[in-house]
Amino acid sequence: MLLNGIGNSLKNNQKMSINTICCIGAGYVGGPTMSVIAQKIPSVKVIVVDVNQARIDAWNSENLDELPIFEPGLDAVVSEARGRNLFFSTDVEGAIHEADMIFISVNTPTKTYGDGKGMAADLQYVELCARQIAKIATSDKIVVEKSTLPVKTAEAIKDILENTGTGVNFEILSNPEFLAEGTAVQDLETPDRVLIGGDQTESGLKAIQALVNIYATWVPKNQIITTNLWSSELSKLTANAFLAQRVSSINALTELCESTGANIDDVAKAIGTDSRIGPKFLKASVGFGGSCFQKDILNLVYICKSLGLDEAADYWEQVIIMNNHQRSRFAKQIVTSLYGTVAMKKIGFLGWAFKKDTNDTRESAAIYIADKLIDEHAQIQVYDPKVTAVRMHSDLNALNSRTEAENSKFLEIHNNPYKALEGTHALAVITEWDEFKAYDWQKIYDGMLKPAFIFDGRNILNQKMLESIGFIYKAIGR
Ligand code: UDX
Ligand code: ADP
Repeated sequence: MLLNGIGNSLKNNQKMSINTICCIGAGYVGGPTMSVIAQKIPSVKVIVVDVNQARIDAWNSENLDELPIFEPGLDAVVSEARGRNLFFSTDVEGAIHEADMIFISVNTPTKTYGDGKGMAADLQYVELCARQIAKIATSDKIVVEKSTLPVKTAEAIKDILENTGTGVNFEILSNPEFLAEGTAVQDLETPDRVLIGGDQTESGLKAIQALVNIYATWVPKNQIITTNLWSSELSKLTANAFLAQRVSSINALTELCESTGANIDDVAKAIGTDSRIGPKFLKASVGFGGSCFQKDILNLVYICKSLGLDEAADYWEQVIIMNNHQRSRFAKQIVTSLYGTVAMKKIGFLGWAFKKDTNDTRESAAIYIADKLIDEHAQIQVYDPKVTAVRMHSDLNALNSRTEAENSKFLEIHNNPYKALEGTHALAVITEWDEFKAYDWQKIYDGMLKPAFIFDGRNILNQKMLESIGFIYKAIGR
């Protein structure tokens, strides 16, 4: 592994100058990442392209509240750079043609068909990008994998690009994104590290250096790690697998706490003070969601299985099994506590997003918990500060558990939390939005049926205060 040695191994005249960057895919990763690059380096033109016209229109919207992605601080970054050196467009071919460096930041969902169905990453969008770049490019390009990809994907991209017969030289880099949603701008501005993988050839090292130079504009050089391609690709999967494993590990102890009288938050605090363990990512919950954890672990499991590494595959799969269990157990606890039936009972949901400060709902526990409760004929009434009703309906419909008409009978969405909770038998906190803590809980109690239950799937509310009002309060892991 080469650690920050690239700058020294290259002479100044070997530096590649990057004037224009293009990013294919204006999603949760591409949009914020490119906005920050453009803000930090006004001299580089950054064009973000997407086939989705509505998404591009939203990125170009005059009203910054209409950006397609809600991220604290993103509006200010976009407003500073957009129109100066940051552009959003559907002209994919034009941007590829103009750029010296092309980031691929398209979606890589879990395959829903064929070999590897339900596990492997679907690389069709990445391959399409590679083919499009191969077709359009007339000058040398550095192609950067930004989407999380299975190990050795770069090889496939390389194969496609190197067989164009146009004489254009392509260098492939892996530059996985570690930003977390809700803190994307902060994570991009002050990352723990930037990871860049590339071929360890002279031209590969030059390409790595070109990308190092971009990030070094605002990231300290000792935080920019350079490796070969495969280590970089695998590090991204591993980072997500470790993070998800921490959440499943703490969640795996919640039932034990509930039956023994231990308190999971105390246990997390006690172990988190060990500097080898550390305090972060030990918050018990209804289960992790988001576009990365499940997808990346399934991908890791698939790769291990494909290589005959069954024990390693089973080990990582257990992280997902535990997460699924945590979601169903939460739904089951609601049913059991409500005297064994929730049929025709109203249950309020506070939150639908997979975590606070984002409007993203991919793999959110809310979807699965709602589905299980609707199986029991519960009426779900949801309030989320940022997620739209259309999004919630389509999340539930995507599970294909029942018809859309049936789903819409059981799922009611409100834009006022007090209205969402009125007349309910119980409420469940699914997302840890800060505003939930500051609600008028006496008013909520007065509007609910009695006994009024709270299932706090994030352990964020004040148990003592709620119990003194009269609620029956149930936390996770206490
Ligand atoms: C994650 C990684 O953190 C990021 O580095 C990577 O680039 C993409 O995947 P993200 O999915 O945005 O980021 O959110 P993250 O903050 O990691 O949370 C993932 C899920 O775990 C959320 O549902 C969150 O609520 C849950 N979680 C997290 C817990 O339940 N407990 C915790 O202690 C931490
Ligand atoms: P991520 O969370 O990885 O950023 P998203 O799904 O939010 O993923 O965004 C990926 C974006 O990539 C989508 O907006 C999609 O329209 C876009 N996309 C996929 N394939 C192509 C392509 N071949 N050309 C341009 N844009 C594409």
